[in-house]
Amino acid sequence: MAEDLKIFVGTKEEQYQNLVPQIKGLLSGECDLIANLANVCAALKEQFNWFWIGFYLVKKSIDNRQDELVLGPFQGPVACTRIKKGRGVCGTSWANTETIIVEDVEKFPGHIACSSLSKSEIVIPIIKKNNVIAVLDIDSNELNTFDEVDKKFLQQIVALIEFA
Ligand code: SME
Repeated sequence: MAEDLKIFVGTKEEQYQNLVPQIKGLLSGECDLIANLANVCAALKEQFNWFWIGFYLVKKSIDNRQDELVLGPFQGPVACTRIKKGRGVCGTSWANTETIIVEDVEKFPGHIACSSLSKSEIVIPIIKKNNVIAVLDIDSNELNTFDEVDKKFLQQIVALIEFA
């Protein structure tokens, strides 16, 4: 049984330093990907209470002709289910294999608004064997929420997840 998450009050860096080992513990001994992705979303939600936290996984399109991002485990309001490569912040992060920090979503050309309440965003690509296989997408309902500290620790967190 999972222990309650110990929420930490302090600087953002301290919050992540407290959270990363707990996420490591949550993932250890469990190989089911959906369970692990769901718990990572829940742990981030509990610690930071951001507006939307979720994974999109690279999967086949409905017509089987191309790969696209398909909604996976998440915490927050309902969201768009499929995103094409190069579209929106998520599809751009996938296409360019890079973490993208968006201070103001209205200023990101092609941003896909799943909710009008989302104001800033960070997307971290998850890379295995040189291929992006998923992205972690986090939205805030405030401007300018994410910075290099988030990038550094969120990259550490996604690296803890084993994709079979
Ligand atoms: N804003 C994202 C779409 C996903 S939702 O934010 C959950 C994008 O532009 O790719």
